[in-house]
Amino acid sequence: MWDEGRVKMIDQTLLPGRFLYRSYDTWEGVADAIKRLVVRGAPAIGVAAAMGIAVVAVNSKARGIDQLRLELTKAATGLRATRPTAVNLFWGIDRAMDVVARYKDVEGAKEALVKEVIDMAEEDVAACKRLGRFGADLIEDGDTVITQCNAGALATVGYGTALGVIRAASEQGKCVKVIVPETRPALQGSRLTAFELSRDGFSCTIISDTAVGLMMQSGKVDKAVVGADRVTKDGYVFNKIGTYQVAVLAKRHGVPFYPAAPTSSFDLKRTHEQITIEERPAKEVFEIRGRRIAPKGVPVANPAFDMTPPELVTAIVSDKGLIRSPVQKNIAGVIR
Ligand code: MRU
Repeated sequence: MWDEGRVKMIDQTLLPGRFLYRSYDTWEGVADAIKRLVVRGAPAIGVAAAMGIAVVAVNSKARGIDQLRLELTKAATGLRATRPTAVNLFWGIDRAMDVVARYKDVEGAKEALVKEVIDMAEEDVAACKRLGRFGADLIEDGDTVITQCNAGALATVGYGTALGVIRAASEQGKCVKVIVPETRPALQGSRLTAFELSRDGFSCTIISDTAVGLMMQSGKVDKAVVGADRVTKDGYVFNKIGTYQVAVLAKRHGVPFYPAAPTSSFDLKRTHEQITIEERPAKEVFEIRGRRIAPKGVPVANPAFDMTPPELVTAIVSDKGLIRSPVQKNIAGVIR
């Protein structure tokens, strides 16, 4: 969130053990926070990156607009290089830079940029709430919903996408139980989703990622609701590693599979072949909380995201309404 010229965020690497805010007044600080998952989740990193540009502007001593633009372009380039998969990151940075491009005076640009990033934060909460209401219609009283990773208030500016659907269903008086796969290797499920849901009074059960199949096979899951880091124009849903296996298992067991995403997570310019899946440090896999759990010298692969093809998607829940199957055909009619 924007806090008088600084970017303030909960340090998600410390949850659930410690609840600590960190505050940044340089783009390098914000970029490092994005890379290290201090702030994570597609909508949250989009807004944080835009605010990373705004902190450069408010602290700039540039006398002319060209100098200011140069400083902001350097920050934008650095922020763009942090994480490649979530389109929100690029959406946030582009939106910030587009505002600056409209001004010829330094003070006007600074003022407009600060207003823009505050608006972006407010709009994100509103989009999650709208999306939540559309998604809540798909949830029945008594449903058990499986999710993946954390697509909650922590992953957005507030309210959440997948967890926004669950929050909205609960606000409609429906009783919803949530199954939370731990989401190795960074444990966003067990550390963050379970923290957020239990803190807010939801009933949730953590499972290991390897238990998803059995849960579905034994009829314990009614619906799957996940987030999205990028939905491409051909209807592929990029989300946290493990989402694809949830989708495949959901199809096998007749469980509806619903990704939930605001407009800022749609990339209507690219198809799935054009997207880079982030490869994260091997340490995340061979260590758990700083302790080595695998032999030295064995290669490790750590892709952070996977892609679910449109044929496995029942409908996408967006802030503009539901995108029904075949989603690749229906996206353009809903997201404009
Ligand atoms: O690596 P992360 O924790 O940033 O990955 C987050 C996810 O995959 C979320 O499901 C996605 O960003 C949607 S958040 C509303």
